Amino acid sequence: MDFDHPPLDPVPVCEQWFAEAWERSGLPNPNAMMLATVSPSGAPSARTVLLKGFDARGAVFYTNSESRKGGELLATGRAALLFHWDAMGRQLRIEGAVSRVSDEESDAYFASRRRESRLGAWASQQSRPCGSRSELESAYRDQEVRFEGEDVSRPPHWFGFRVALEHLEFWRDGDARLHDRVVYDRGDNGDWSVQRLWP
Ligand SMILES: Cc1cc2nc3c(=O)[nH]c(=O)nc-3n(C[C@H](O)[C@H](O)[C@H](O)COP(=O)(O)O)c2cc1C
Repeated sequence: MDFDHPPLDPVPVCEQWFAEAWERSGLPNPNAMMLATVSPSGAPSARTVLLKGFDARGAVFYTNSESRKGGELLATGRAALLFHWDAMGRQLRIEGAVSRVSDEESDAYFASRRRESRLGAWASQQSRPCGSRSELESAYRDQEVRFEGEDVSRPPHWFGFRVALEHLEFWRDGDARLHDRVVYDRGDNGDWSVQRLWP
């Protein structure tokens, strides 16, 4: 990424940064990102999720739609994502409207997960009060019995969300806090405008 002459299209730069994070960030989960949502009354919240898909349409993660984040995403339709690859001195921010990925896409990703994780998706009432560890384990065992000898289908409340690429920011660590920042905004016609920002 040339911060003085940024390319017209930021999507290939994101893809390159993701690839380099897998190759040399040294992190066990270089696809971990912070997901920020906001409640209908304007209260923000943030948590980590894993990036599971990326292209010009947006950044995809999977979750239980009945969780706190799921409720906020469905209510407001907006999210912000943040990656920080410390060892590489890089930060990437993505903001945009949120949509539900197709059932076919969610099914395909769900089918790729190990059986235990698929059972866990059924067992967890994500973000609701849980009495004890044994209540959680017993809910998991119930699902093991329910699906014994069968394929574990995707729960209807478990699916992917895609955050559209509307506003992106690339940040690179610089000496003496003289960092490089470039922001991209996508206009209604799909074209990108790009600007350098003061650190
Ligand atoms: C490294 C890491 C990766 C995670 N990935 C996911 C994920 O992809 N999807 C998810 O629903 N929760 C994931 N979690 C758990 C969330 O951070 C969070 O605890 C959970 O989704 C409930 O959030 P909520 O109550 O705000 O909805 C991950 C946590 C960590 C630490």
